[in-house]
Amino acid sequence: MTARAHWTNRLAFILAASGSAVGLGNIWKFPYITGTNGGGAFVLIYLVCIALVGIPIFIAELYIGQSSQKSVVESFEVLDRKNSPWKSIGWLGLAAAFLILSFYSVVGGWVLDFEYRSLIGEFTRETDDQISSTLGNLFGNPGRQLLWHFIFMAMTVSIVLRGVKEGLEKWNKILMPGLILMLVGLLVYSVQLDGFMQSLKYLFSFNTDALTPAGVLEAVGHSFFTLSLGMGAIITYGSYLQKREAIARTAIVVGLVDTAVALAAGVVIFAVVFTFGMEPGAGPSLMFKTLPMLFVKLPVGQIVAIIFFLLVSFAALTSSVSLLEVVVAYWEEKKKISRKVVTIVTGVIIYALGMLSALSTNVLSDFKIMGLTFFDLFDKATSQYFLPIGGLFIAMFFGWKLGPEAAKHALGGNRPGFSAGLMWSARLVAPIAVGIIIIYKIYMDFQ
Ligand code: TRP
Repeated sequence: MTARAHWTNRLAFILAASGSAVGLGNIWKFPYITGTNGGGAFVLIYLVCIALVGIPIFIAELYIGQSSQKSVVESFEVLDRKNSPWKSIGWLGLAAAFLILSFYSVVGGWVLDFEYRSLIGEFTRETDDQISSTLGNLFGNPGRQLLWHFIFMAMTVSIVLRGVKEGLEKWNKILMPGLILMLVGLLVYSVQLDGFMQSLKYLFSFNTDALTPAGVLEAVGHSFFTLSLGMGAIITYGSYLQKREAIARTAIVVGLVDTAVALAAGVVIFAVVFTFGMEPGAGPSLMFKTLPMLFVKLPVGQIVAIIFFLLVSFAALTSSVSLLEVVVAYWEEKKKISRKVVTIVTGVIIYALGMLSALSTNVLSDFKIMGLTFFDLFDKATSQYFLPIGGLFIAMFFGWKLGPEAAKHALGGNRPGFSAGLMWSARLVAPIAVGIIIIYKIYMDFQ
């Protein structure tokens, strides 16, 4: 058997883990759910979730991967025992990976389509009305969506095929710094827009009126989604870390990068929204409607548009590879099948599953399960059930099963204060908070 692949150094790992965390969740989803939930108060709850629940679970996942040197199902066997019941967390995680990547790739496809339209200068020739109906037109065009979904999946597959070092690490090293640079550029640009101050106010003033219990649930679910938690992506990435490396600081760095990108994307997008008097609560189409409209009005707008959608494609791709890696790592390890075969087969299955989401906006738009299209069902089921449930058990496994020794290692030595904090969170705070949320969610959905 060949030795397990490892990241070259800490920076390579930080880039890969931030690559997983920073994605469509930050640039597309965070701004639009902030908009549909009325702004500031939602942001505050999201930040609290990241700090109190997200980071501790991130540390737990990293530790589980690193100390077992195994992917998502087997890690629980190595750390507990053969046929440990905890390994169901791994099965749940694998299922979540299929579901999430299937709709994620469809949205990735929309982004590629917008990148293509920017490249050929389509937006520059159009009126505002035409621009804002672009996404709607794409929704009505199953063939075009399936084509882009295919291209996005093929790109994901081709990176994962090459393995941890030559694929994941290499691409993250190029794409992540590129993404940060482009985002900083856009942020600086947005400062001089008329809507800039209003955007800050919208995001950072805590107007609790607009907040609903459903909004709180969404904030909790999103804090898992945005940090790639609850299904073993971080376990898998952690398993490529050398055993001696301390991980807590790394987890905090990734948490900060992820949060900073989400907030920066929010500031830029809402600055545009308010500059043009648009609706912050437009929903999933927010990013796709607001930005092209702004871009065409700029002197070098076409170039900005090309850069922006390129940025979002990068972010999406560095996340989608982490989702696929969860499944591929498991299969490759467990069944000893070649990485190439596993990656392609998994890619094909996920592509097929994703067709249900791509067709949700047209052919299958009337087909609903519990009132949701496939797209919404996969999205909601994963971020509001699979990930929180997975995260809850991961926290408990870390807190109760592995205990203070694990915390000590994760923190890189004896740090009683931090260690106690981490144990408190993993044993009680995270499970209770997330548990209440899940029960409440079940009650709301099934009453
Ligand atoms: N975190 C990514 C985003 O914000 C999406 C993602 C990648 C993810 N891997 C994951 C979400 C694992 C949940 C679990 O876009």
